[in-house]
Amino acid sequence: MSDLPRTVKVKEVGPRDGLQAEAATLPTEDKLRLIGCLADAGLKEIEATSFVSPKAIPVLADAAEVFAGLDRRPGVTYSAIVPNEKGARRAVEAGADEIQVFLAATEGYNRSNVRMSVEESLEQAARVAEVVLGAEIPFVAVLSTAFGCPYEGAVAPERVLELCGRLIGIGVEEVTFGDTTGMAYPTQVGELSRAYGERYPDVPLRLHFHNTRGMGLANVLAALEAGVDRFDASVGGLGGSPYAPGATGNIPTEDLVHMLHEMGVETGVDLEALISCARLLEELLGHELPGQVMKAGICGHLTAGAS
Ligand code: COA
Ligand code: ZN
Repeated sequence: MSDLPRTVKVKEVGPRDGLQAEAATLPTEDKLRLIGCLADAGLKEIEATSFVSPKAIPVLADAAEVFAGLDRRPGVTYSAIVPNEKGARRAVEAGADEIQVFLAATEGYNRSNVRMSVEESLEQAARVAEVVLGAEIPFVAVLSTAFGCPYEGAVAPERVLELCGRLIGIGVEEVTFGDTTGMAYPTQVGELSRAYGERYPDVPLRLHFHNTRGMGLANVLAALEAGVDRFDASVGGLGGSPYAPGATGNIPTEDLVHMLHEMGVETGVDLEALISCARLLEELLGHELPGQVMKAGICGHLTAGAS
């Protein structure tokens, strides 16, 4: 096995990616409680919400209120995602610490998600760049369906890399590959991550896996071996996408952190405190979450004999 990174940056995306998939809308004050709990557990990057059309994602219509109500913990980056210039203006106005423009690598998914062609999304991304960089706020991008599309199937790695070049050309400081519907598999992840690193060594790569087909943590290991040290995850494994047929949640943050800690990779996260956040979220939502470590316990802490 090749050397793994010593530390990994974990971005919590539950308050955005997770909650947008919930049928019921969590009241703003509950979202703020969850975000506070996550920050107290040591997560330094929290995707707090998105600035999209409230008609498209009604459960995140309170994005400005979420930012206004944040009890900010020092050293924590509270970010937001946006699909267009209007979203960027709203996010800057609301006080987002980092703004991520999102688009898909495939026409079919991009149209169903944001009603634009990929080219139109790239035009919007350039406008978002002007707004965000003009406000001197960190600017990053996520390219979803980078490992496969529920409408178009396989996606050519060359196409993904070419789109990255366009995004880097407008000033993005980090690129995320989104595995929106859990189609990525470990050898593919390793290959695409290495190819990205060779082509764009100065712009860090982050990976965003959904656990739709149970390959999430295997994909993380493949990415670590390819040198990737930034991952998204959602507390309790909450999530999915209302636009992706059969989608399920992201890899659960506490399962990711547990695996990393077991392998001696540091995250700065207090795992027990994070598990408490997953339990709090179950309570707030009134249903069980798919996370496994929150049910099975932390390996190093188990005292009961196996039976
Ligand atoms: N925030 C708030 N409102 C927005 C907005 C934004 N970022 N972008 C557009 N709108 C509003 C417009 O002002 C307009 O409002 P009106 O009907 O009151 O005049 C309405 O939305 C339609 O605008 P239009 O530009 O024609 O957008 P559209 O209907 O073609 O939808 C998107 C395009 C991108 C706005 C919409 O599809 C969207 O928000 N998608 C996000 C989906 C998502 O979040 N998916 C999950 C994340 S991966
Ligand atoms: Zn996602």
